Amino acid sequence: MALDRKPNPNDLSAFWMPFTANRQFKKAPRMFVAAEGMHYTTSEGRQVLDGTAGLWCCNAGHCRPKITEAIARQAAELDYAPAFQMGHPIAFELANRIIEIAPKGMEHVFYTNSGSESVETALKLAIAYHRARGEGARTRLIGRERGYHGVNFGGISVGGIVTNRKVFGTLLGGVDHLPHTHLPALNAFTKGQPEHGANLADELERIVALHGAETIAAVIVEPMAGSTGVLLPPKGYLEKLRAITRKHGILLIFDEVITGFGRLGSAFAAQHFGVLPDMMTTAKGLTNGVIPMGAVLTTAEV
Ligand SMILES: Cc1ncc(COP(=O)(O)O)c(C=O)c1O
Repeated sequence: MALDRKPNPNDLSAFWMPFTANRQFKKAPRMFVAAEGMHYTTSEGRQVLDGTAGLWCCNAGHCRPKITEAIARQAAELDYAPAFQMGHPIAFELANRIIEIAPKGMEHVFYTNSGSESVETALKLAIAYHRARGEGARTRLIGRERGYHGVNFGGISVGGIVTNRKVFGTLLGGVDHLPHTHLPALNAFTKGQPEHGANLADELERIVALHGAETIAAVIVEPMAGSTGVLLPPKGYLEKLRAITRKHGILLIFDEVITGFGRLGSAFAAQHFGVLPDMMTTAKGLTNGVIPMGAVLTTAEV
């Protein structure tokens, strides 16, 4: 199906695309104009298999009638209502349904507009949690090299993708990073979780010794990283991170923006790997990518 939306290369100057070689793109634009199931349709009418599910967004496939009908119905019935002091029953129903499929121990949901905003929210909640318990010195945030946590200041600061970080100067203060776990020399050709690398979680002890546990609010990692290659956690790594964070009173945040909503087979990576964090950030698959929306899940304690 060729839709009548062939781009005119002279009309592409206003929109500057993120994470894209813009001049190259605009010389030879690749436009998707429709989608169904597992395929996109290009402006030339070519079918393209969506092998990354819209970069981990469209977990249920494209343009599912149940989803598009629900959106159309809701937009016609109540398009927007303020989110403070007033509510909508479906927001509460959705939270309950998320908790139903979440790992046991996750009890609360806080909505956001994206994965990036979920990350900022979780980092802020971590600092606020400690302050509320009289531990206001716990403001330090620990991320990991090669990590991706979106495009806002907090997320870039705890993230570990050099090209995303280096243009923004010092970013957030009080941030440190665990080493990444990509060890091709030891783990090449591994099927499933790599055998080597759990010891890299012990680096957290070094960071705690350097800064003092009483200054550290949270550690954030993707349980399975997906932005500098698909990097599975080494066997035992997440368990070790959980044990060390617990020992030092540090919150553990799993960034499940990619892994949430069935990506690994279980609803969340926390269930797949059997490790319960204190908070989980989600987005993408939450709405099948159709509506910009995210959610932070927390334990009752947080
Ligand atoms: C692990 C992770 N965290 C956060 C984000 C940011 O999500 P969003 O693009 O919805 O802001 C992404 C996006 O790819 C991600 O993969």
